[in-house]
Amino acid sequence: MVAKTMDELVSICKRRGFIFQSAELYGGLQGMYDFGPLGVELKNNLKKAWWQSMVYERDDVEGLDSSIVTHRTMLQMSGHEGTFSDPMKDCKECGHRMRADHIVDNKCDNCGSEDLTEEREFNLMFKTHIGALDDGSNLAYLRPETAQAIFGNFKNVVDSTAKTTPFGIAQIGKAFRNEITARNFIFRVREFEQMELEFFVKPGDDEKWHDYWLEQRLNWWEEQGVPKSKIHVLDVPADDLAHYSKKTYDLEYEYPHGIDEMEGIANRTDYDLGNHTKSQDELNITAKVHKNTQSTQKMALQDQETKEWYVPYVIEPSAGVERGMIAVLNEAYHVETLENGSERTVMKFKPHLAPIKAAVIPLKKNKPEIVEMCKTIKKDLQKLGLGRILYENTGNIGKAYRRHDEVGTPICITVDFETIEEEIPTVTVRDRDTMEQKRIPVSELKKYVMEYFI
Ligand code: GAP
Repeated sequence: MVAKTMDELVSICKRRGFIFQSAELYGGLQGMYDFGPLGVELKNNLKKAWWQSMVYERDDVEGLDSSIVTHRTMLQMSGHEGTFSDPMKDCKECGHRMRADHIVDNKCDNCGSEDLTEEREFNLMFKTHIGALDDGSNLAYLRPETAQAIFGNFKNVVDSTAKTTPFGIAQIGKAFRNEITARNFIFRVREFEQMELEFFVKPGDDEKWHDYWLEQRLNWWEEQGVPKSKIHVLDVPADDLAHYSKKTYDLEYEYPHGIDEMEGIANRTDYDLGNHTKSQDELNITAKVHKNTQSTQKMALQDQETKEWYVPYVIEPSAGVERGMIAVLNEAYHVETLENGSERTVMKFKPHLAPIKAAVIPLKKNKPEIVEMCKTIKKDLQKLGLGRILYENTGNIGKAYRRHDEVGTPICITVDFETIEEEIPTVTVRDRDTMEQKRIPVSELKKYVMEYFI
């Protein structure tokens, strides 16, 4: 059973320390969120899983981590300064601002008035300036997507790694959009993270690779606990395509607020590399290349057989970390009725995503031998590098189990009197999903935990 409403998810996220409204103590910063002790672990684990599958498990993808503040010309040439905007209207009655394409029956969604302004375009990029002067000459933007710096570094990566098509560059990082209406918890926010791959292929091979990446991405989400049956693949209608796209598949998930986009997989053609390439006059290539005198590079590759230059086409799977997190949280969320009639809330995260991998709990919190044994076990397991192992000393074993069910800790390890008295010490290991408990020799714990997670 998944969460019925977004409120259920928001509530558990706040209560258990996954996600908080940013600047809550000053009334909140709209469209910004902070990730608490468990949220940061879940987020890191999701990003790690993406990097593992996109970079480490492949030899045709390289990683990148570029600056967030972006050269203005980069975003002019990419088309963002000119076209990265949403239509908006203001309510003349209450001053409320809305995205024009979200307005129902031409009524203000705040006060119901029909007295709205004409539609006008609002550019979504956050501006900043570099250096001490703020006279407009040193304008820069916070990146609205991580992709542009991948295109900007295309030549650097090719030259330093000797890669040729088909190959990709992957990046995870913050992106910023001054959304007109941020809404639905962390679904539409103004500061978020993207996990983006730009996969470069020969023109003509693009459609084949587009379908390949669609399948790969659906499989990956399934491995994160988001089943294919909950993801709807939308072949985005031509009118709704982004300015750079020839064709886009949106992976839409069944969110508590409705079916909505979790990831886009776009065929960006040679649009971006073409636009960032120096003047076509200097190149013997036939791509849509702007007469851009400011770029210093030729973003083209040479076919080794024909010796012809070509600007690669790009297939781009681009996923939002926050949107992925809601889907993962929603799928993990279960409320079960136990045999004795009581209810337990349990987050059934896939083990590799669980914020806490194992909790080590003393049956008696004031018994030094038990406490020492717990600390030693925690230290030993932590060294395995699987993620957070928590030494939990609250004294009430039943409550500790419930709390760890609710935050999705797969294994609880309890040290009791038997452990410290036995010749070959054993501990109780409790499984989150089955609630089964079994005794395991302390000497075999590392092996047990390793096998559980790998
Ligand atoms: N580089 C391509 C690109 O940025 P996009 O469809 O605009 O394409 C890609 O964004 C993904 O980034 C989306 O599918 C979504 O998961 C995430 N995303 C976009 N805007 C967002 C926002 N305001 N809040 C949270 N996530 C967002």
